[in-house]
Amino acid sequence: GAAALWGGRFESGPAAAMAALSLSTHFDWRLAPHDIAGSRAHARVLHRAGLLTSDELVRMLAGLDRLAEDVRTGEFTPAPADEDVHTALERGLIERVGPELGGKLRAGRSRNDQVATLFRMWLRDAARRVAAGALDVVDALVAQAERHPDAVMPGRTHLQHAQPVLLAHHLLAHCQSLLRDVERLRDWDVRAAVSPYGSGALAGSSLGLDPAAVAADLGFAAPVENSIDGTASRDFAAEIAFCLAMLGVNLSRIAEEVIIWTTAEFGYAVLDDAWATGSSIMPQKKNPDVAELARGKSGRLVGNLTGLLATLKAQPLAYNRDLQEDKEPLFDSVEQLDLLLPAMAGMLGTLRFDTARMAALAPAGFTLATDIAEWLVRQGVPFRVAHEAAGACVRVAEARGVGLDELTDAELAECCPHLTPEVRTVLTVEGSIASRNAHGGTAPERVAEQRARLVARAGEH
Ligand code: ARG
Repeated sequence: GAAALWGGRFESGPAAAMAALSLSTHFDWRLAPHDIAGSRAHARVLHRAGLLTSDELVRMLAGLDRLAEDVRTGEFTPAPADEDVHTALERGLIERVGPELGGKLRAGRSRNDQVATLFRMWLRDAARRVAAGALDVVDALVAQAERHPDAVMPGRTHLQHAQPVLLAHHLLAHCQSLLRDVERLRDWDVRAAVSPYGSGALAGSSLGLDPAAVAADLGFAAPVENSIDGTASRDFAAEIAFCLAMLGVNLSRIAEEVIIWTTAEFGYAVLDDAWATGSSIMPQKKNPDVAELARGKSGRLVGNLTGLLATLKAQPLAYNRDLQEDKEPLFDSVEQLDLLLPAMAGMLGTLRFDTARMAALAPAGFTLATDIAEWLVRQGVPFRVAHEAAGACVRVAEARGVGLDELTDAELAECCPHLTPEVRTVLTVEGSIASRNAHGGTAPERVAEQRARLVARAGEH
């Protein structure tokens, strides 16, 4: 029954509402393969410490193999009376190897060090999977950048037309933040790759077990330095919750742009049918649901982070049952990203850009005004004066309802005596873009170099 792991000092079993509150198998069952891997490693150190005979070790490992297989096929599942994944699997082991041998595995470990270890193992696997999914989104954006090396668009600040940029430059900006998300997950793993196994309930083990051997067996770099910290700390969970929330937020910023770009007003891009939805009533509709779900789920990922931090706040050392609440938010964040990342890659990879429309809009809103000012600076005019002069050009052009490139020689000279007709060399979108040719700028050759470096960096993962 539910009291299987700790029934000795109790006269009665738990009340029904107590057991219902306590139950976690409906979410922690996914840790079962990791729990069994931990049990194998633990059996080996028990044997090394002389607490299991060689024959017992062989039978124990065979029992664990059978249990793993039965878990995999669904032959073995948690019973209603099993409090958590650890309780259920101990029952399963005892059913397979008998109470005598099965009861020996619990020596020198506690669910407190077990669960902290298994959760790290599960998250390390998840981090690799999420990173791979994020890299697929990067690939989709890089492919679009490669498909459109020369396409231009209005660059924006405050959502207002600012300066023309290359579409590839804009798409690669999103790639930079996504690649940092991937790198952040890798950096996180350095801190997460320590094993709490052997910490026991909090004070460590007295049985001569070797935590370093268990750590190595389970793919960790080292055992934890401090058994209290090993069982009580969850900053590894909060840190990856942040990494996942940040990834969600970055995806939602891309998503928001797709939503805007696909409106009739912008008309920058059209969604592929496979990555859009229709309306049950309005036959003409093509809705950007993937992008909206990205935007919506990012809020959920932020909530999972802040909820976990609130759970951890002010808990005294070492283990408290509150810590059982650490898992669902992380399982949820990973599950949402598992769903979202392939859809985002698909949607972004198949987006069709209307490059002609983007090019037509690139100079709108006087986006070349800065080019006039900077051209004047190159003629030796102080920037303050140049800024005034370019502003005067905008005022004249706006009043006459023309673009900056359509101002007459006389109008230019009136705005500033230094404004000779040569200024027109920078009064094109292409000229403006080509002139921003310092490292990191939007000039085509700089963007091509940036793309090559980014692809090389992404290839390291
Ligand atoms: N299921 C618990 C958790 O997820 C681990 C069990 C520890 N329980 C305890 N009473 N010490 O945190």
